[in-house]
Amino acid sequence: MLGGVDQDISVLFVCLGNICRSPMAEGAFRAAAARSGLTACVESAGTASYHIGHQPDPRAIAIASRHGVDITGQAARQLTHHDFYRFSHIIALDRANLEGVRARAPRDGTAQLSLLLDAVEGLQGEPVPDPYHGDVAAFETAWSTINLGVDAWVARLIREGTDLAV
Ligand code: 4NP
Repeated sequence: MLGGVDQDISVLFVCLGNICRSPMAEGAFRAAAARSGLTACVESAGTASYHIGHQPDPRAIAIASRHGVDITGQAARQLTHHDFYRFSHIIALDRANLEGVRARAPRDGTAQLSLLLDAVEGLQGEPVPDPYHGDVAAFETAWSTINLGVDAWVARLIREGTDLAV
């Protein structure tokens, strides 16, 4: 609830494995929403099934923790048919996964499908590069980039909710 605006916002972040980028996005979004007073349900999922049930990658856990965000309670899951009706927004971390999301979208799915960085002025269409095969610096870069996107989405969702209320 923000300034009396009761929004029905639910966000699902989607990457490939759901152990690196989308868990960081879920944690970062939860923290940013709390800071901004935005009430929203947030989860994450992968387009692939490789890591179902796994905790986020230890490097993702470490970088989130360094920024005061605990993502250890997350467990990877795969995107489901039901997600297209449950969430108001499904936000992919890169274009390949946005295409994967689109390919699975039911005709009457209600979720709005977007790319994380489309909310950031000057970064529209850009991916959050996959840090999985990279080093700690790649996770640092991913965390910063994800936070740019998440902050822009929180601002956009607050604006849209406020606009709806007037
Ligand atoms: P994510 O990173 O999509 O950001 O979770 C990856 C994690 C695992 C794999 C690929 C990407 N994998 O090939 O196992």
